[in-house]
Amino acid sequence: MRKGWQQKAKGIVMSDVKSSNDSIIIFDTTLRDGEQSPGATMNKDEKIRVAKALERLKVDVIEAGFAIASQGDFESIHAIASQVKDSRICSLARAVQGDIERAAEAVKPAQASRIHTFIATSDIHMKHKLRMSPDQVVEQAVASVKLARNLCDDIEFSCEDAGRSDPVFLCRIIEAVINAGARTINIPDTVGYAIPDQFGAMMKHLIENIPNSDKATFSVHCHNDLGLAVANSLSAVQAGARQVECTINGLGERAGNASLEEIVMAIKTRQDLFGLQTGIHTPEILPASRLVSSITGFPVQPNKAIVGANAFARESGIHQDGVLKHRETYEIMKAEDVGWGANKMVLGKHSGRNAFKSRLQELGITFDTDEELNLAFSRFKALADVKHEIFDEDLHVVATNTDLASGGAYAFDAIQVQCVTGQAPTTTISVKVRDGEAFKTIEQTGTGSGPVDATFKAIESIAESGAHLELYSVNAITQGTDSQGEVTVRLSKNGRVVNGCGADVDIITASAMAYIDALNHLAMDVKTHPQKRGI
Ligand code: KIV
Ligand code: ZN
Repeated sequence: MRKGWQQKAKGIVMSDVKSSNDSIIIFDTTLRDGEQSPGATMNKDEKIRVAKALERLKVDVIEAGFAIASQGDFESIHAIASQVKDSRICSLARAVQGDIERAAEAVKPAQASRIHTFIATSDIHMKHKLRMSPDQVVEQAVASVKLARNLCDDIEFSCEDAGRSDPVFLCRIIEAVINAGARTINIPDTVGYAIPDQFGAMMKHLIENIPNSDKATFSVHCHNDLGLAVANSLSAVQAGARQVECTINGLGERAGNASLEEIVMAIKTRQDLFGLQTGIHTPEILPASRLVSSITGFPVQPNKAIVGANAFARESGIHQDGVLKHRETYEIMKAEDVGWGANKMVLGKHSGRNAFKSRLQELGITFDTDEELNLAFSRFKALADVKHEIFDEDLHVVATNTDLASGGAYAFDAIQVQCVTGQAPTTTISVKVRDGEAFKTIEQTGTGSGPVDATFKAIESIAESGAHLELYSVNAITQGTDSQGEVTVRLSKNGRVVNGCGADVDIITASAMAYIDALNHLAMDVKTHPQKRGI
């Protein structure tokens, strides 16, 4: 039996009491590994909103960032540690003194905190990236865990690139760091190279052969380069891992990380096989997915499991007929269990604030302040004026799509577009530009090959960012021609890539909002990448 966790009604405490070993700790790294996806950068306010959504989801551990990466990352972790009470707050740190001290400082205000330190353990990483011998790596890991343990009670240690590391060396370093005070041992498949059976066998081998493995919780962290992140994580769970590191919508470096919603629902749906539980409040899954998608500008593909628009849609007559006769003929999960509403059409322009609030509550969306609710309600009213049928999908956007540009250097003000057959489209846009604490309004006109092109040119003539447009995509949120369009814009400049998003029934307005949102992300601070050599 290993040391376990006990979740209390308020806050989480790591218990010295041996647990029954049938619960899985959900460690969410959307704000750290997820944010490392090119273009997924979030600002402090956005990170706080995501952290609160994760808290509502009852995630056990939130990896809120990599404190040494930038001043912005440090401040975001610090703010999350101050404001989130029901999840443990963690910062990543390379196995070096500066990183660990900065991480400790960032998580200090948290009710329950963790430092997650790591060093690479594969031959290829030790030789070519770290340029250190295996002995030096063990020494550095042990010293780092001891230092971290003096600053924080809860230490996680990761063997970066464990998936390609020598199991004999893994046993040696893990035994040493457990003796030094690490209580969670994470086995990452950093490059997404593992295959489920083999990865599960490796986890089993480590747990069975490390003499002090009973003093730590084993954890798994898989990347999705071969599309196997969830399968590999579940295989590791079957082999004895009791923490899974994952992200909302599977966001993460390259092809992403294991997706939280898929891990959680697989464990819940296949109780018969796993016999394990997570503490996740599953109706909060869809709101969290929508929020992360709208903040990062990474759309969720329609056929994505659990949270994709088609995940519970049934086109075939045979399937529809079967479900009407007996739901379980074709349904393995209930849509409402993960936050999808049973009713499709919900509110209209005569609906009041209370009806709006209670429908959002049914969808698992709550607000921390009345001011946030009031802002969302005015966005709902504005939408209901132009769109008669407001669907759940619209409500998710209205609730999560705050004035995306408000915290940044630019904010959308107004737009006028003229398209005449045979003439180049013209856009006149008015943008609020930050001037110290206040905003000044600047108007510009642009022409282009289409109205979107004209709009972006008009905005560029105000911002003069010199950024390169990498991607432009529009996605209809609901069916029908009065659907809101959700636009993603990806910009790059000097090797940095950022996304922006906007939603409106007018897709040119949504496009302008998305471009402005991307410009605001571009203006955010530049960060150190955790997996760059820094030792
Ligand atoms: O993929 C990885 O190895 C990581 C570690 C820092 C845990 O993200
Ligand atoms: Zn990772």
